[in-house]
This record gives sequence, C-alpha cells and structure tokens, in this order.
Amino acid sequence: MTRLQRTVRHTGHWIAGSLMALAMTCALAQAPASTPQPAPATPATDADTNNPATHPAQPLAGIVSENIFNVPRRDIAAEARAQQERTKTQPGNNAPVWREVNSDQAHYSSLPAKEAGVLIQRTGQKWRLFRNGVITVWGGWLVVVVPLAILAFFAWRGTIPLKTPRTGRMIERFTPFERIVHWTMAISFSILALSGIVILFGKHFLLPIFGHTLFGWLTYILKNLHNLTGPVFTVAIVVAFVLFVRDNLPSRDDLTWIVRAGGLVTGSHVPSRRFNAGEKLWFWIGLVVFGLILSASGWVLDMIVPGMDYYRATMQIANVIHAIAAVLMIAMACGHIYMGTIGMEGAYRAMRDGYVDEAWAQEHHEIWYDDIKAGKIPAQRSKPPEDADRARRRPGEA
Ligand code: HEM
Repeated sequence: MTRLQRTVRHTGHWIAGSLMALAMTCALAQAPASTPQPAPATPATDADTNNPATHPAQPLAGIVSENIFNVPRRDIAAEARAQQERTKTQPGNNAPVWREVNSDQAHYSSLPAKEAGVLIQRTGQKWRLFRNGVITVWGGWLVVVVPLAILAFFAWRGTIPLKTPRTGRMIERFTPFERIVHWTMAISFSILALSGIVILFGKHFLLPIFGHTLFGWLTYILKNLHNLTGPVFTVAIVVAFVLFVRDNLPSRDDLTWIVRAGGLVTGSHVPSRRFNAGEKLWFWIGLVVFGLILSASGWVLDMIVPGMDYYRATMQIANVIHAIAAVLMIAMACGHIYMGTIGMEGAYRAMRDGYVDEAWAQEHHEIWYDDIKAGKIPAQRSKPPEDADRARRRPGEA
C-alpha cells in the first residue's frame, strides 16, 4: 500500500468515524431513555413515541436536555466520546448504535405506524426460533407420524365391515341442512389444513422441488385463500355446535365405550347413542376447543377483531398458539376422516346422502337405533326427497 493510499484510507476512516459519532450523538440525544433503568411510570404508547407533540426531537446542544420519562439520566456525552474513541481504535465498529437499536426502547419516529419507534423488536428473534424450530420440527413429525400410524392400522385391520346383511331399510342420520353444515366445515377445514401446511412446512418439502418462483406464487395464493376461508370455518363450527351439541352431551355408556376403545381393536360390539364416545371427544376437543382456539387466533392474525391493537408481540403470540393448535387439530382430524371414509363400511354414506342402513345403525349405534324403533326419536326428521327411493339406494345400485 502506497503512502497516498494509506493517507486516503486513514482520512476515510476518520470521516466515517466522525459521521458515525455525530449520528450516534443525534440518535442518543433523541433517545428518551437508556440502559438498565426502571420502566417508565406509564408505558410508552403510540402517542408517547410517535407524536412529536408529546415526544419532541431533542436539541443536539446540551445533549441531555429533557428527561421526559423521568428516568435516571446517563452521560450521553461520555458515551459519544467513547464511541468517537472507538472509531479510532476499532474503525467500523458501531456496536453501541446497534445495542441501542436492539434494546426494545421506543425512540422517536415521525411515522404514524404502531411501534414505529422500535426498529428491532428483540422478542421477534425468540418467536422466529420457536416457530421455525420447535413448532416445525415437533409439528412436522406429528403430521407425518399420525397418518402413517393410521395407514399401518388400516393395513392391519382393513375396513370394518358390516357383520350382518343390509336390510335395505334406511334411517335418516343427517338432515340436508346438517350435511351442508358438515360439508362446509369439512371443505373449509381441508383448505385451511392444506394451505396451512404449505405456509408452515412448504419451504422444507416444496421449495426444493418447485423452485422459488413457483413456490412463491403458490404460497401467496394459498395464504390468501387461507385468510379468506378462516372466517367461513368459524361460522361453520358455530352452526355445527348448535346443531350437534345435544347429541354430544356425555352419557354413562361413554365410559364403557372408552374403556373398550369402541371395540376397534378387539372387534367386539359396544352399544352407543347417536354419537359414540370417540365422536364426542372429537366434537368437544376438536371442534369446540381447537376450533375456537384456531378461530380466535386466526381472527387476530387476519386483523379483523374490532377495536384490537395489533402489536408485533400480539401477532407473535397469536401465531404460536395458532400453529400449535393447527398441528394438533390436523393430527386429530386424520383419525376422524379415516373413520368416516375408508375405516368403516357405510359411514361415508351418511355424509354423502344422509341415510344409513338399519343394520349399520344397529351395529354401530345400537341405543340410538333402539330409541328410533321405540318411537322416541323420529326415523325421518326432514322432508323426504322427491326421489326418496334413489336417495336410499346403495351406491352403484340401479
Ligand atoms: C381449522 C383449522 C385451521 C388450520 C388447520 C390452520 C392452520 C394454519 C397454519 C398451519 C398456519 C401457518 C402458521 C405459521 O406459518 O406459523 C396458519 C396461519 C394462519 N391462519 Fe390458520 N388454520 C386454521 C383456521 C384458521 C382460521 C379459522 C383463521 C381465521 C379466521 C385462520 C387464519 C390464519 C391466518 C391469518 C394465518 C397467517 C397466514 C399468513 O401468514 O398470512 N386460520 N393457519
């Protein structure tokens, strides 16, 4: 390096150092508070931090001019001198500036946005590590292992067949309105679960296959679909709750069903009412608890809760709650969807056209069947369809 180069470089460092020291002095002078200190008597609000009337930019001269939060003063002039000194001994080291920026302390900002005075929110890093570490790892394993376990069970037990021959006499299991609500819930749930999986895990399994452009577009579309489908799901679970709560109230025979695991493993017969204990657990834990948690946190993430303040911490907490409840509900739903489709012969029929064969009713919900036969519950609750025969025929029958 020639002498000229060294001189130019040294002068560059000096100018950069001086500018940085000046910037530091301005930044610190405008900072209302500092390192270890008690919290302000009243928490800093938007009005405090963003409004020049309540939080004026402070003059450079005198450096510590006004202590608006009544916190212990610090010797900013000395800090500025130290930073000036540091620029000579460690050119380019602007650690004090970043310590200040990274202190969660609200500084002055003319932007009207909430928390605009906080450039970096420290908890954001903790949230990022938890979301991209704990949740994606454990949640990822859960949504992979549960379907695999169900497939293994299917390979072992196969579809649970009807043991007695069909009678051809049909009983109405779901009215058309109940089916519309059930399908709305099922379709919106499937959209939410699939799009949610892409938002949460997609970069690990789709990005390497699709590449950034395609994956970016796909996630963008699915994210908006998710955000719009969420409120539909909320309405569906509220209506479903009203429709089905009566038949999901706990009864004494539920205990027998739980103790014998519904006869799923042994293949033995366990009598139950319109809904068995397994279905009731899904109703209360899946639909009510997880449905409500997902809806409440989803509405916050959608920013559609009237009168709510959406701070960064609010969104981080809502996101963590939402993602944990989502993976748990997806895992639970796998069992429910399995039993309603390939797991049990005749169950999907009830969802498709609302009717089940009397043999099915007697085999799977004997107490309900007996009540219908005894006239305690009507066998047909809705107006029968015009082509009632067609609705009651088995799939594939002419
Ligand atoms: C029923 C089941 C639901 C499931 C399985 C589900 C699943 C998920 C998952 C896995 C994520 C990704 C979380 C992350 O990336 O950290 C997510 C994000 C989100 N969910 Fe849901 N969710 C459901 C319901 C809802 C509801 C009811 C709403 C709204 C009312 C909603 C609104 C949102 C929003 C706004 C996001 C953030 C999307 C974004 O990044 O912009 N979700 N959901």
